[in-house]
Amino acid sequence: MSVTEDVAVPEPFEAAPGLAGVSVARTEVSDVLGRKGFYHYRGYNAVDIARRGKVEDAWHLLLRGELPTAAQREEFARQTAALRQLPDGVAELLPAVARLSRPGSLESLRSAVSVTAQAIGCKPWTDQAAEETGEQAARFAAVMPTLAAQLFRLASGQPPVPPRADLSYSDNYLYMITGKEPDDRSRYAVERYLMLTIDHGFNNSTFTSRVIASSGADLGAVVTGALGALSGPFHGGAPARVFDMLDAIGSPDNAEAWLRRAINNGDKLMGFGHRIYKTVDPRSELLHEVARELHSERVEFAELVEKTAVELLAELKPGRELYANVEFYAGVVLEAAGLPREMFSATFACSRVIGWMANVLEQIQDNRIFRPLARYAGPDAPREFPGSWQPGAP
Ligand SMILES: CC(C)(COP(=O)(O)OP(=O)(O)OC[C@H]1O[C@@H](n2cnc3c(N)ncnc32)[C@H](O)[C@@H]1OP(=O)(O)O)[C@@H](O)C(=O)NCCC(=O)NCCS
Repeated sequence: MSVTEDVAVPEPFEAAPGLAGVSVARTEVSDVLGRKGFYHYRGYNAVDIARRGKVEDAWHLLLRGELPTAAQREEFARQTAALRQLPDGVAELLPAVARLSRPGSLESLRSAVSVTAQAIGCKPWTDQAAEETGEQAARFAAVMPTLAAQLFRLASGQPPVPPRADLSYSDNYLYMITGKEPDDRSRYAVERYLMLTIDHGFNNSTFTSRVIASSGADLGAVVTGALGALSGPFHGGAPARVFDMLDAIGSPDNAEAWLRRAINNGDKLMGFGHRIYKTVDPRSELLHEVARELHSERVEFAELVEKTAVELLAELKPGRELYANVEFYAGVVLEAAGLPREMFSATFACSRVIGWMANVLEQIQDNRIFRPLARYAGPDAPREFPGSWQPGAP
């Protein structure tokens, strides 16, 4: 029988490009209701948690399944703070990793995560006890800020600042970057941002993390792969590019002409558009609010650019429903927290790793390897093999 006759299976369904509108798994971790402008962590409005809680609350909810009581929060904060230290052997390697790239680069962070995974002895999750995988999931989320902050300081010629277990997650993060305990303003800003970005349905890097985990690979492979996905400009690489765009526009009177030209050129305006949200992104709304509360010096210019861009997108891309996404005000808020532009994407990685880990623990509870199809669109097979063909022949 020829291969072309071997079609005992029905014609495969072909999903939309980018898997738009396709559900690929069941999850209890989080969801995004794009027409309602609403998203949640395990059923709780994520914006409410971000307004009222601390990173440890959202982290506990995603990892342990429930919002913590005061006593649980204290215990969870104590346990996770103890995991912030770099494992043996990693600190010595960071200067060499940092030298290879610019401050704040996700490429360096990826290399450091890979080394960390080896140092803590990550094995394919199929080959280790479930408790060990759970501990490693907590460890990666706790140590990512230490790796990101130390790499940043080393790459910018400053000595690394070791983590402190007596500070909250957000305070410790800012402390390790700046070397100073944060003031209320910085804490408020960075904490809101971190909580808003911990998880967000089946975004590209979360899906990546679950695909990698589904092969049985170790958590180090999962986190490095997810970081790779996050680094792209259409995903977590966007916030610094929003600042680049604001800089390029330069002044209010240049906004309309600059943005019109960019859209007409076919460029994507950084910080606008979303696969799921077809209305205002609620993360953008809260970050905008925070930026105003902090009297950020950029906020008025950013507002003008947002308004102009939304109007032009409606005019030039009618029906696409394009609004500001989380990245648009992210930089404005993080800058107000005292973070340099180079650290915007790495900060995103520090919060999102919590979501990746919650998703991966869910994936492996009821795993089936992701292995979809692609519709082959090349020359008809089998092609006649050229009898005269020789490897290396001209
Ligand atoms: C987020 C994003 C990747 C979603 O992509 P998507 O769901 O595949 O959307 P599409 O690229 O199919 O966009 C649909 C239409 O809107 C347009 N569009 C989408 N985002 C746009 C943007 N930021 N600027 C200008 N046009 C945009 C597309 O050009 C396309 O137009 P067309 O119908 O004429 O081809 C995309 O909006 C984007 O690249 N935004 C900028 C990067 C960004 O801010 N990323 C962070 C996301 S949180």
